[in-house]
Amino acid sequence: RGPHELAGVNVVVSAGPTYEDIDPVRFLGNRSSGRMGFAVAEAAAEQGANVTLVAGPVHLSTPRGVRRIDVRSAREMHAAVLSAAAQADIYIAAAAVGDFRPSEIAAHKIKKQGDGGLSLVLTQNPDILADIAGLARRPFLVGFAAETENLEAYARAKLERKRLDLVAANRVGNGLGFETDENAITLISADGAEQLPTAPKCELARDLVGRIAARYRAKRDA
Ligand code: C5P
Repeated sequence: RGPHELAGVNVVVSAGPTYEDIDPVRFLGNRSSGRMGFAVAEAAAEQGANVTLVAGPVHLSTPRGVRRIDVRSAREMHAAVLSAAAQADIYIAAAAVGDFRPSEIAAHKIKKQGDGGLSLVLTQNPDILADIAGLARRPFLVGFAAETENLEAYARAKLERKRLDLVAANRVGNGLGFETDENAITLISADGAEQLPTAPKCELARDLVGRIAARYRAKRDA
């Protein structure tokens, strides 16, 4: 592979978790560290792409040469990605977007009421990737699927349901995936599945971006 396979290509990457506020001091979040998405953004920039990284709340520094937009909630991420996607050639959805948010954000800290519990009413968040997939001019689309079981079957269902070009499927739990430095990916496309070997996330990201670039160019030049 050449050194600048993505020269001049506009790539949008979303990364990290989303936080959904419950009240001024509490939120619903998830265990995504953002490391895989940041590594993908860095690898794409190394390949010469113009990279916009839409980042949920993470503790990571911005990769060299990457334009970063910080967001907190799924709805903020949705707005930022949709606006960046208008110019995108490739969208890589590596964020762990919260599926639900509290229907209302309490204006003040919720207090205990005697010995009783608390029920939260949740509303479903927009599916960012599905909305990008529905655009008239859609970028080349790469989704992620983090699953604890039936990895390939769930990933293939996602590919078809959201009409994606590729799904990077990774097994979570047992020391892989979230909050770890190593990861393994099965890359699912309409024509089959490729296993990328287990590696540190930055190496795996370079491997993944190389394969995305090759398939993007093959589709563009077809
Ligand atoms: O949540 P799910 O497993 O369906 O996520 C698959 C893909 O869809 C991921 O790439 C994720 O970033 C994206 N997604 C999204 N908006 C959501 C939920 C998931 O873009 N609300």
